[in-house]
Amino acid sequence: MRKQPDTIHIMNMNKRIPQQFIDDLMSRINIVDLINDFVPLRRSGSNHSACCPFHDEKTPSFTVSDSKQFYHCFGCGIHGTAVGFLMEYERMTFPEAIHELASRANLTVPNETNAENNPKSANLTPLYNLLEQVNEFYQQQLRKHSEASMAVSYLKNRGLSGAIAKKFNIGYAPEGWNNLLQHVGNTNANLLIEAGLSIKKEEKNHCYDRFRNRIMFPIRDTRGRVIGFGGRVLGNDTPKYLNSPETPIFHKGKELYGLFEARKADNHPDRLLVVEGYMDVVALAQYDIQYAVATLGTSATAQHMELLYRHTPEVVFCFDGDRAGIDAAWRALRQTLPTMKSGRQARFLFLPDGEDPDTLVRKEGKAAFEHRISTADSLSTYLFEHLSKNIDLSTLDGRARLAELAQAMIKEIPDGIFKSLLIQELTARTQVNPNTLSKNTRNEEPAAHRQQKSYSNQKEQKTQLTPMRKAIMFLIQNPQLAQHSLDISWLAEHKNTGAKVLLKLLEILHARPHLHTGGILELWSDKKEQQYLSQLACRDILTPETGIKIEFQGLLKLLQTEQQQEKNQALFNNPKPDFLTELSGLNYEERKEFMKTLAKTNKPYEG
Ligand code: GTP
Ligand code: MN
Repeated sequence: MRKQPDTIHIMNMNKRIPQQFIDDLMSRINIVDLINDFVPLRRSGSNHSACCPFHDEKTPSFTVSDSKQFYHCFGCGIHGTAVGFLMEYERMTFPEAIHELASRANLTVPNETNAENNPKSANLTPLYNLLEQVNEFYQQQLRKHSEASMAVSYLKNRGLSGAIAKKFNIGYAPEGWNNLLQHVGNTNANLLIEAGLSIKKEEKNHCYDRFRNRIMFPIRDTRGRVIGFGGRVLGNDTPKYLNSPETPIFHKGKELYGLFEARKADNHPDRLLVVEGYMDVVALAQYDIQYAVATLGTSATAQHMELLYRHTPEVVFCFDGDRAGIDAAWRALRQTLPTMKSGRQARFLFLPDGEDPDTLVRKEGKAAFEHRISTADSLSTYLFEHLSKNIDLSTLDGRARLAELAQAMIKEIPDGIFKSLLIQELTARTQVNPNTLSKNTRNEEPAAHRQQKSYSNQKEQKTQLTPMRKAIMFLIQNPQLAQHSLDISWLAEHKNTGAKVLLKLLEILHARPHLHTGGILELWSDKKEQQYLSQLACRDILTPETGIKIEFQGLLKLLQTEQQQEKNQALFNNPKPDFLTELSGLNYEERKEFMKTLAKTNKPYEG
């Protein structure tokens, strides 16, 4: 079964991307082609279907509509647009999804101020292509180079199978200063430098290979594109490892080695194990522990944590048992706290001194290693035990000290169940009044920053279909209907939320009649209304095709009538003075009759 979906921060994110661009993008993307790249679809009638990628099922109830540009699973209720699909299935953020779609449509996302998302060189394709080409080259060198036997026997000595080397595309950068330039040609010299593969010589207009006589580990982003390399010396030279420098497409603080491969093994793994080295990831995978990833010689950052939790609910950190490992674990814990939203778990695994996952899994095998993983300390155990280390909890002072230290840490955690549980545990350990504790551990992050958006797979709540909701449902599923509703001024007087949405929908569609369902939904992409609208977008309309226009017009008429009746009723309940004068000419019976008719009529009272 699929796990609880993550919540995804998208607030304010798409402010940077002009709506007009998103609009245009949505009209160029075909959701059927997009989804088909991830989940092979079969045509069935006007829809395309497959077994739902978001829950286990034997018969297909996941459908993708070409006309609506919208997907929906009748089994688990998940639904959304092309953007929503990438966010849900590929665990992308909103801007990432837009970028992915843009690159599929050969468009460049305009007007972004954030340098991270907008490297100056607008077109990164040559860079990606170059890295892929070099990746091929290094792998080929491991098979063909005259000195390759050294590299091969190094890998063999370390216990790596040929199959696992192939799976991780491990390669060999041979000795020499200009292998790459020779391989890709002089015209690409600048690109090699930009990719971090070559280093520019200061004196001359020359460059030389960064990686020489090293075992090469290609680093991929979550989409599988090679973005950089780690290279290990064959012997004992220093530096032992050399990583690609920061480039327009490679940011150490954001990337995790092995994440792509882990997701290939399981798109939504139950847990991810964070280890320190390339060799650890590869060795674990060789022993069929295919959910390990490594940071790239840095400690885990908050960005790493967000990335990890986009793919799994549980992260287990694995550390060497030495002093350095203990320090690294505490740093990791500090990074993790602010990301501990409800539904996320973190645990800490300490290996015996002198071992790393590579050596240990080779020694004791998969089952024993996984036993260590499943019995690793929970975040709270680790937190309290670490803090209590030099504290005597049998004294009042000691307990006060622990409360103080722990409060400062717990404060970092976003409010929620997990935090409450930690406070409970702190109370139990220190006997400090829980009210005092919760006051002192309140997260001061403003509420607005915590607002979250969820493309969730909750079953859509079957809210009752009022005429208003029904009209919106008809319109969002059949945007061409807007052309048959010219006079909508009356809607502006309507107070309820549905009316506001319907009016906005009609106005948008009058201005942009080409929008399809998916495109419309993306107009609300950072608003709570999207959830409501997308639920209406996937409900079944029982009316046959031919009756839709008439029924829609009927619904508008009905709404207008209802509105007029309400106004007349208000007048009846709360008559204005000139209205009373008018009535004064009538006798009691006549007056009663008049008022009754008035309340029922949909014609405005015109005196
Ligand atoms: P092996 O000796 O090959 O088993 O590697 P290891 O992973 O056991 O080595 P270690 O624990 O020393 O390093 C863990 C990770 O830290 C490596 O995978 C690298 O990412 C990084 N690292 C280690 N040494 C260096 C170095 O000299 N320079 C840089 N930049 N990173 C390093
Ligand atoms: Mn090692």
